[in-house]
Amino acid sequence: MIVLGIETSCDETSAAVVDDSRLLSNIIATQSIHEAYGGVVPEFASRAHLRNLLPVIRYALEQAGIGLPEVQGCAVTYGPGLAGSLLVGLGVCKGLALSLGIPWIGINHLEGHIVAPAADGVHPAYPHISLIVSGGHTLLVWVEKPLVYHIVGRSIDDAAGEAFDKVAKVLGLGYPGGPAVQKAAEGGDPLAIDFPRALLDRDSLDFSFSGLKTAVLYYAQSQGAEKTREQTADIASSFQQAVIDILAHKAFAALKKFDCHTLIVAGGVARNLALRRRFDRDCQEQGITLHIPPLELCTDNAGMIARAGLMRLSRGERSNFDLDCVPNLALGSIPNH
Ligand code: KG4
Ligand code: ZN
Repeated sequence: MIVLGIETSCDETSAAVVDDSRLLSNIIATQSIHEAYGGVVPEFASRAHLRNLLPVIRYALEQAGIGLPEVQGCAVTYGPGLAGSLLVGLGVCKGLALSLGIPWIGINHLEGHIVAPAADGVHPAYPHISLIVSGGHTLLVWVEKPLVYHIVGRSIDDAAGEAFDKVAKVLGLGYPGGPAVQKAAEGGDPLAIDFPRALLDRDSLDFSFSGLKTAVLYYAQSQGAEKTREQTADIASSFQQAVIDILAHKAFAALKKFDCHTLIVAGGVARNLALRRRFDRDCQEQGITLHIPPLELCTDNAGMIARAGLMRLSRGERSNFDLDCVPNLALGSIPNH
């Protein structure tokens, strides 16, 4: 089956083509307009999707060497995300499906992140634990079998990516914050400052990052407005280390609790190189099989949506044309198909 995927939930306009065993193309147009505002401006995001989506789809088909009439199914993110942005993708997907007379399906963006390591059709072993670390979510999911999810841990306040973005702001590093903090941390000492690692209850698999964020704010203020490059590097590196310690601690606790030997780490924060190195090392030491998608499949992209769509469409699942976007869609909620 050849499936075209569309992702417009936030500020990346993306289209991808998959077949049963390959990711044939995955085009991502990043909207730089938001940089000047220090965060995503929803109105600008939906307007940019309107401008970019059709050219991005055309390019994805061209890269895949697939003509529009060869597409056999369409998949699109219908939540969670920004309503105006989601509606652009959803409208285009419905239009394509209607005009081509092919089935289509709405996909939960978080499911997309979970299946990202399988975008090329090679699936991790089941059951496994999936750690989703993005700008909006920090979730630990026990994936019992394909497409069956149980959330076993979540952030009770900020998402990990949100903490990166806020710390970047505190340090005056600009937006998007995650890559800026990673860059600023280069050459810094990860043990320079002992920032708090909130682990909550001993048995809890939940996360909390707001105390860490506040500790970074107070520490940065105590250093004065003008910081040397070295001071900033130490703060960024020590913060990054604290986030990674918390994520690793909880992920390994979940693997133990659910007796799983396969771990997936996905979402935008999984692009972080120090995090990738740490999980690589720890998983090797503990005999855990680790799947972290390549960088372009960690951030928001349509390749993961196309794969999730192909998995569901090939089981006979379909969406109806009255499916609306659901900005606060939860993982595992009964799809409105
Ligand atoms: O998954 P994603 O692209 O979008 C959402 O679904 O939220 O994740 C975006 C988040 C942002 O908070 C961004 O700062 C963070 O991922 N991020 C990073 C890195 N690259 C992106 N965080 C840490 N290190 C990075 N290299
Ligand atoms: Zn995402």
